[in-house]
Amino acid sequence: MKFFVDTADVDAIAELNELGMVDGVTTNPSIIAKSGRNILEVTKEICDLVDGPVSAEVVAVDADAMIAEGRKLAKIADNIAVKVPLTWDGLKACKVLSGEGNMVNVTLCFSANQALLAAKAGATFISPFIGRLDDINLDGLELIEDIRTVYDNFGFETQILAASIRSANHMSECAKIGADVATAPPNVIKAMANHVLTDKGLAAFLEDAKKADIKIV
Ligand code: E4P
Repeated sequence: MKFFVDTADVDAIAELNELGMVDGVTTNPSIIAKSGRNILEVTKEICDLVDGPVSAEVVAVDADAMIAEGRKLAKIADNIAVKVPLTWDGLKACKVLSGEGNMVNVTLCFSANQALLAAKAGATFISPFIGRLDDINLDGLELIEDIRTVYDNFGFETQILAASIRSANHMSECAKIGADVATAPPNVIKAMANHVLTDKGLAAFLEDAKKADIKIV
């Protein structure tokens, strides 16, 4: 499973990238607003840092305006994936922009039907939002399973980009289901390293090493 980082925090991306944990980056208007930076500038900086796809989202709502914004975003760098919302106009924009050779990430997906439409419109990525479904007492992971089944039934090549990930558990569940990509904030990716038995075991090893005066360098 590929890891995308769901942030516009350039320092956090760089830290994870050095460890080989970054296969791509996702942003959205809320993330860009939080960064306090100009969308074109910060996106360019991220594209220079990361080899994989960097999703940059349009803010228009009608298809023609989304296409114009998408074309401008795509000019930032070769690794831009233009992100469009899963609306009828977003699907129209997806069809045009992907037809022009751009990567397109269709976002705000909350059903298998929406995912089916995005695949038929030529999406490179479909972004089902797990956490926001869980927030309203629905099962976000079940949606990932459903989309995996639908795409596999018909051999769609659109990649499932599990989004709105809130916990390390979401990451391992997505990997088990077979999501192609999971995008998560840096703190969630780091939390994947944590285990209480690792902490307990390490404390015991260090105590024994101290008692036995083990020195290596
Ligand atoms: C994905 O592309 C979105 O940017 C993101 O995962 C949304 O996450 P949230 O629901 O935690 O805001």
